[in-house]
Amino acid sequence: MEKPTWQPNRRSGVPLHAQITEYIRDKIFGGEWPVGTRLPSQRELARSFGVNRSTVVAAMDELTAAGMIEGDRGGGTRVVNLTWGALAAAPPPDWSAYVNAGIHRPNLPAVQEINRSEFAPGILRLGTGELSPELLPHSGMSRLLARMAVSMPELGYGEPNGDLALREAVADRLRRIGIAASPASILIVSGALQALQLISVGLLPRGSSILLERPSYLYSVPVFQSAEMKLQGVPMDEEGLRSELVVPYAKQYGGALLYTIPTFHNPTGTVMSEERRARLLEACRNAGLPILEDDVYRDLWLDEPPPAPLKARDASGSVLYVGSLSKTLSPGLRIGWVTGPQPVIERLADIKMQSDYGSSAFSQWIAAEWLGSGMYDEHMNELRDALRIRRQAALKALDKHFRGLAEWSVPGGGFYIWLKLKQAAAPRRLFDAALKQGILINPGHLYDREAGDRIRLSYSYAPLAELEPGIARLAEIVASL
Ligand SMILES: Cc1ncc(COP(=O)(O)O)c(C=O)c1O
Repeated sequence: MEKPTWQPNRRSGVPLHAQITEYIRDKIFGGEWPVGTRLPSQRELARSFGVNRSTVVAAMDELTAAGMIEGDRGGGTRVVNLTWGALAAAPPPDWSAYVNAGIHRPNLPAVQEINRSEFAPGILRLGTGELSPELLPHSGMSRLLARMAVSMPELGYGEPNGDLALREAVADRLRRIGIAASPASILIVSGALQALQLISVGLLPRGSSILLERPSYLYSVPVFQSAEMKLQGVPMDEEGLRSELVVPYAKQYGGALLYTIPTFHNPTGTVMSEERRARLLEACRNAGLPILEDDVYRDLWLDEPPPAPLKARDASGSVLYVGSLSKTLSPGLRIGWVTGPQPVIERLADIKMQSDYGSSAFSQWIAAEWLGSGMYDEHMNELRDALRIRRQAALKALDKHFRGLAEWSVPGGGFYIWLKLKQAAAPRRLFDAALKQGILINPGHLYDREAGDRIRLSYSYAPLAELEPGIARLAEIVASL
């Protein structure tokens, strides 16, 4: 459950514990916290209400005595509502049973915790895969929004494949990296993640196996698993996914598709070499596997432009290619794209129409302006400079504080440093210990169950001035466990 943002009023004449009792009672009677809801721990409640734990305990005692909550076997507290009024009325629906019955899998508990903690005040986010607010192009966006006031985008529902001007701008960018795609074979999506979701429900039979790098971002979002698919991780080396294993893995597990992030891989930062790309295409051809290439980090190169995408070498239409503006311009716009054979794009567009009738017209208009006007390229030049400075700051801090504690390699772009700890603590203990000290990290096991000795560090999000002190504090925590 999200921690409450409400706090009792210290200037009111009503005692704090009575205000808290009242607040929780309103939540239960108003139906926002139905029977079965698990409350945050007393310590967490005390922190979010800004009161002593004893004040929360007093409120909980009153609510327990009134039959509204009770302790459960796991040591937590649940809403029960055994009040006389409730017992006399027809029982309310058991929403927790509904919640557990839903088809979509929940996020991993650590991912839920990360999602909740990201917006807690005073948290230093050392693992977030996103641009820092100080790197987002606020002034360019303001200029565009002023322009939008005079040339308004269409306000109605749009075309199934997305705004034509945006698809033309995307086609132009794809051409520059060697991909020939006409606007008719491009679908605008609400972020790359939606492309993965559409593909998982629109193209693949249930029970299919997806081959992918291990570790991978895809392990941290249960999109394919929710569509009843299995992920079969293929080991990587410094050149990327080990292509020689594709045919044997495909033989052993079957396989409907190979998902790969060949360029500035999440979480390892690896760039697949030219030779490996050629071999991977050949291996997939031999195994009869189509490829889903997730290329959302391509534009974030810091040393040299990366090799051409797999899609640029795909003469047979076997590669579906996904891109996004989330990592470079604004994740809040929720704009990405997918390109591939036209019948596939039409199928995905048809499902997208059934799920959201198209991405926001405003976001699409803004994205088309950024890409089509040259503003995006200017922004990327500035962004790369800023990310180089951040990468250097993070590496310097690692050299100073993590020598002897961990190993890492220097990423050529993207956001991540994939730290390998020399002595691994239990991943959950490390995560909790860091969070207790206000540092949010992405532990390695989110991306590979066996990578408990890894941390995905990111140099893109935390304020530049806090990278070094944050890494120093993290090193102390690692050393203390
Ligand atoms: C490899 C990869 N693909 C897709 C996404 C999701 O991107 P979007 O915000 O465009 O949905 C992410 C975000 O972390 C990512 O790392």
